[in-house]
Amino acid sequence: MEILTNLFGETLKISDKFDSEADVVLYTGDTLDLLKQIPDETAELVVTSPPYNIGKPYEKKVSINEYLEQQKRVIEEAVRITREYGSICWQVGNYVENGRIIPLDVILYPIFDRLGLKLRNRIVWHFGHGLHAKKRFSGRYEVILWFTKSDDYIFNLDAVRVPQKYPNKKYFKGPKKGLLSGNPLGKNPSDVWEIPNVKANHPEKTIHPAQFPVELVERLVLALTNPGGWVVDPFIGVGSTAIAAILHNRKSAGADIVPEYIKIAKERLKLLINGELKLRPLGKPIYKPPASVENYRKTLFEQILRQEKE
Ligand SMILES: C[S@@+](CC[C@H](N)C(=O)[O-])C[C@H]1O[C@@H](n2cnc3c(N)ncnc32)[C@H](O)[C@@H]1O
Repeated sequence: MEILTNLFGETLKISDKFDSEADVVLYTGDTLDLLKQIPDETAELVVTSPPYNIGKPYEKKVSINEYLEQQKRVIEEAVRITREYGSICWQVGNYVENGRIIPLDVILYPIFDRLGLKLRNRIVWHFGHGLHAKKRFSGRYEVILWFTKSDDYIFNLDAVRVPQKYPNKKYFKGPKKGLLSGNPLGKNPSDVWEIPNVKANHPEKTIHPAQFPVELVERLVLALTNPGGWVVDPFIGVGSTAIAAILHNRKSAGADIVPEYIKIAKERLKLLINGELKLRPLGKPIYKPPASVENYRKTLFEQILRQEKE
C-alpha cells in the first residue's frame, strides 16, 4: 500500500489491489479481475463510463453482440458488489456503425432489467462541444442510466440542490401567503444536466480521449452515497471517479487496462491532496457571451453590411 501525505499530515492510502483498509484502489488490468476481488455488497455506488466500442485507442472494436456479452459480465459483477441500498450508474453515448447510430442505453437497459435493477432516472447530460456532423444533427448529449438495487436507497437530494431561478418568490394568496414558495436550500437539479465535457480547454483535460468531468461524478457521489462509502468505477480511466469520491470523503476503487491512465490517476490524486489539482467546480455556471458582446457583434455586422451597400 502506498501512503501519500500532504503538508498538513493528511494521508491517502492507495492500494493496487482491493483492500478494505485503503482509501483508493487503482488496479491495472482487466476490470473483471478487480471486481472479483471485491466482496459482495461493498459499494454504495458503482459508476462508470464503459468503452463504447467505437474504436477509441484503448478498445478493440467487436461485434455488437460480443460487446453486449462483455458488458453483461461486468454488470453482473457490479450488481453483486453493490449494497442493497446502493446504486449503479452507467454513463453512455451512441455506438456508430456506417453512419447509423445505436443508443447504447437502449440496448444495455434489458441487461439491467433482467438482473432485477430498478431504473430511477435516465439523466440527459447535455454539453456544448463535439464533432460537427454533416449528415445528421450534431450529437450534444449522452445519458446516465441510474439504477437502484431495491426500493430503499440512498438519495441525498439536499446535498445536490441548485439555486432557484427566483429564490425570493412567495405565495401571493392562501394560508401560506407571504411565505417562500420554493425550498430555501434550492431546487432539484432535474434529470437534464448541463455540464461542459472535457475538451482541450477544460481545466481537467489529460491525455485521455474520453474523460468524465469530475463535477458530473460529484453530483452522483453526493446524492447516492454517504461519507465513508465505497464508490467503484470498473473503467476508471485517469481516475475522475476516485477524485470525486475523495473530494467528498468517500473511498474509491477502479480498474483500467492502460497502465499510463492509472499512472495519471495516481498523479492527479497526489495533486488533489496537495490542493494543486485544477478542477472545474461543481455548480459553476456555463459560460455565455455577455449580451453586450452579442450586441456589439450585431452592430459591427450591420455596419459592415451598410458599408458594403454604399
Ligand atoms: C470511457 S473511458 C473511461 C474514462 C473515465 N471515466 C475517466 O474519467 O478517465 C473507458 C476506459 O475503459 C478502459 N478499459 C477498456 N477495456 C477495459 C477492461 N477490459 N478492463 C479495464 N479497463 C478497460 C479504457 O482504457 C478507458 O480508459
